[in-house]
Amino acid sequence: MGKRGPAAGRGRKGPERSAAKKNRPASQRVPRSDRAESKGFAAAPRLRIDILTLFPGIFDSAFSHSLLAKALAKGLIDIRVIDIREAAEGRHRVADDAPYGGGDGMVMKPEPLVRSIERTRGDDGHVVLLSPAGRLLTQARVRRLAGRRHLVIVCGRYGGVDERVSALAVDEEISIGDYVLGGGEPAAIVLVDAVARLVPGVVGNEASTIADSFEDALLEHPQYTRPAVFRGLGVPEVLLGGNHAEVARWRRRQSLLRTLSRRPDLLAKAKLSAEDRVLLDEKAREEAAARDGDPADETITAKRRPGRPRTSARR
Ligand code: ADE
Repeated sequence: MGKRGPAAGRGRKGPERSAAKKNRPASQRVPRSDRAESKGFAAAPRLRIDILTLFPGIFDSAFSHSLLAKALAKGLIDIRVIDIREAAEGRHRVADDAPYGGGDGMVMKPEPLVRSIERTRGDDGHVVLLSPAGRLLTQARVRRLAGRRHLVIVCGRYGGVDERVSALAVDEEISIGDYVLGGGEPAAIVLVDAVARLVPGVVGNEASTIADSFEDALLEHPQYTRPAVFRGLGVPEVLLGGNHAEVARWRRRQSLLRTLSRRPDLLAKAKLSAEDRVLLDEKAREEAAARDGDPADETITAKRRPGRPRTSARR
């Protein structure tokens, strides 16, 4: 991952940028043996991501683990973290100011932010502003972003971002959920993670990204691994039997039931077979009966299973 501190140059091109790369601290350099060329990957990254932030330190180790670290080492993606203050003027490099009209918090000023975006986006940068006022991040949106070659992710802060930044330099505003974070940085980490795993070559078995929750609008089925019994809880028999068709049927059923109980809103978008619909109708009838006082309801008895510790901590 390339990272540029406040003193680093900006908007470098070609050899100048390579020189900057050579001057990176060892911890930020990708070893030659791991570079894309030597591993048979394309020399250019499939996706370049620039993150513009007032707090670059937040990202110090965010991309140094697991899948992302491997994708960076293989040169499949390239991530640079850029300090917006590099583009702020004056001795204090002020990047925020009080809101016109009054109110709490500070608003990110337009000049440094637009300048920083313009220096970074080049010809192909798709600029995303992270903000609680953005459109909700969905797997479909993640997939669209993963199809781009270059993302510029802008982390909003404080009491918001001057609206003219959006008007002049932002392609889309995205929120990662209906809650307010202190700033867009944690949202950027979420976004990069979700997007990177859809870049071809990043996840070993591409089928697993397709089977994941949301890709077909259902929640994922439960998963189990060894041991076969843990603290008295076993693994569903069907998973131990080796009958792939039965396993697939069980998993589908579990996905449907879980989605019905936790995220029924997703079912409206799901592709459902006639068999799926029969199961869901059956379950809906059972639940209606349970609401009317029928004690045979599975979900309620499971939740009130005797012996289950009643703690407030959820696992
Ligand atoms: N900044 C603050 N809250 C946010 C959210 N929910 N999504 C994206 N950026 C944010």
